[in-house]
Amino acid sequence: MSEVSSKNKGNKPLWRSARLSVAPMMDWTDRHCRYLHRLLSREALLYTEMVTAPALVRGGALHLLEFSAEEHPVALQLGGSDPEELAEAARLGEQAGYDEINLNCGCPSDRVQSGAFGAVLMQTPELVADCVSAMRETVEVEVTVKCRIGVDEQEPEEVLPDFLGKIRDAGCRRVTIHARKAWLQGLSPKENRDIPPLDYDLVHRMKAAFPDLHISINGGIATLAEAKAYLDRGLDGVMVGRAAYHQPADVLCAADPEIYGTGTVSDPGGAVRQMLPYIEARLSEGAKLNQITRHMLGLFAGKPGARQWRRMLSEGACRTGAGPELVQEALAQVETRAAA
Ligand SMILES: Cc1cc2nc3c(=O)[nH]c(=O)nc-3n(C[C@H](O)[C@H](O)[C@H](O)COP(=O)(O)O)c2cc1C
Repeated sequence: MSEVSSKNKGNKPLWRSARLSVAPMMDWTDRHCRYLHRLLSREALLYTEMVTAPALVRGGALHLLEFSAEEHPVALQLGGSDPEELAEAARLGEQAGYDEINLNCGCPSDRVQSGAFGAVLMQTPELVADCVSAMRETVEVEVTVKCRIGVDEQEPEEVLPDFLGKIRDAGCRRVTIHARKAWLQGLSPKENRDIPPLDYDLVHRMKAAFPDLHISINGGIATLAEAKAYLDRGLDGVMVGRAAYHQPADVLCAADPEIYGTGTVSDPGGAVRQMLPYIEARLSEGAKLNQITRHMLGLFAGKPGARQWRRMLSEGACRTGAGPELVQEALAQVETRAAA
């Protein structure tokens, strides 16, 4: 893998950070979620939820770009299909401090299709290449793509190499491939994450065909051990979505030593304690406790006290006036159970 020159704010090369990334997930990977994930791994690359270029450029929704400096390295995922509008949205993202701009070519929802972006872009690789070129001409941070292996009746063996070749020629050096098709009619977005079969071997063949492209694999990867196995087999990166959200400690706590050879295994209890001042700061700005704690429910998944933790937070965090002391109390219960 040839080294890509882009640097992020932490001065860590992104191609290295991208050995493990947490997927963009609408309504899930908001700034609070990313802050938590960053406490579990200092190294993994974190992605925002998709933000649409029209919302930023025409709607002026710049609040969607707010994030904490601690989240770096963090990539902004954009949805859109108009090269000029995407270039302007990328400029706003770079100005807001994001380390990377990623174009969504994988989301199959109706809302996204009607805007002619997301997975439907797999059918127009020339347009994607134009979008990549326009963004690259406008920003200095790296421009990357997240795609599927194809849509509907497309033949992935044919369309994927064509797609990758075109975006590579437009200057994209890093791509994440969700290793299944999206079916644009008849399946909900949720079904489109489970029903179309996964074809991991195709992603490996793409790496062999495009050795200079940094390729991350995505889809159905559930553990850190599995992630490591893909890296050992020659892929450049692994993106984990649902498992990282539902069992963040299992996926992220040992990531730094095991994937990057740095640091030590982090401790979910320690992360909770470090969340307390963050929670206080966000509440003082008007956030509600459950907007933050909803991302923390899976922190102790599979460990003693997990159910009680989840129950205390989900029942208590919606109450008026609920604050960090609830989180502290729930943690004390988990730690008592663990010590018993
Ligand atoms: C709730 C949810 C929201 C998602 N939103 C996005 C999104 O905004 N952009 C995107 O590219 N993919 C989105 N995805 C897809 C994930 O990024 C990922 O490709 C998919 O979940 C497969 O990975 P996994 O099996 O590790 O979860 C979303 C997935 C979920 C579960």
